[in-house]
Amino acid sequence: MSNPEAAHRRFVVLISGRGSNMQQIITQAQTGDWPAAFVRVISNESDAPGIDWAKAQGLPTAVLPHRDFASRDAFDARLAEMIEQEAPNYVLLAGFMRILTPAFVSRFKNKLVNIHPSLLPDFTGLHTHKRALEAGVARHGCTVHMVTDQLDHGPIIAQAALAVLEDDTPASLEKRVLQAEHVLYPQVVQWLAQGLVQVNESGQVNVTGVSSRQLWIES
Ligand code: GRF
Repeated sequence: MSNPEAAHRRFVVLISGRGSNMQQIITQAQTGDWPAAFVRVISNESDAPGIDWAKAQGLPTAVLPHRDFASRDAFDARLAEMIEQEAPNYVLLAGFMRILTPAFVSRFKNKLVNIHPSLLPDFTGLHTHKRALEAGVARHGCTVHMVTDQLDHGPIIAQAALAVLEDDTPASLEKRVLQAEHVLYPQVVQWLAQGLVQVNESGQVNVTGVSSRQLWIES
């Protein structure tokens, strides 16, 4: 008998905290019946609320506290082993607050996906909303990209942009960008699940049948 799960692409999700992106991805995948299997959710923080949510959904979870390891290399080596046991097609970073070593990243070339709260290549790193306001940009947003060993760089899969409003504060901007993340990241995971995303040798992304990889979010 054929296994209906066999055609599903396998995803491991890495989180550190509340996991709202993970929740949106998994809920929308289930509602939309995408060919996606979420084979393990792993957190480096034992009290991450996202882990409780994943457990309540009956998903396989694991906690790997980075503080238990003597070095970043040792943590990353164990994490890579845990991930490889699941034979994933993709590893989704969803609010995973650890910088990964080049050795780890190279083990998962073109499989490691991240969401960053800015329109890359602008505002890599932290405090993106405050820095966007300080720079006076008229547009801001979020980016889903493949991870390379250069922080917040790597092939851009898709972006969601929105207008910065006159009375925006870092908090109000963060809130609207998070709503945009909850649209963008699930959309990209649907494309990945459907096998539509290709990355060429120069690191450019093509999504079969998709003419624009930018979503515009009305404020
Ligand atoms: C998001 O803003 C994401 O862009 C950033 O960390 C936050 C994670 O939020 N990398 P959540 O854990 O998905 O709710």
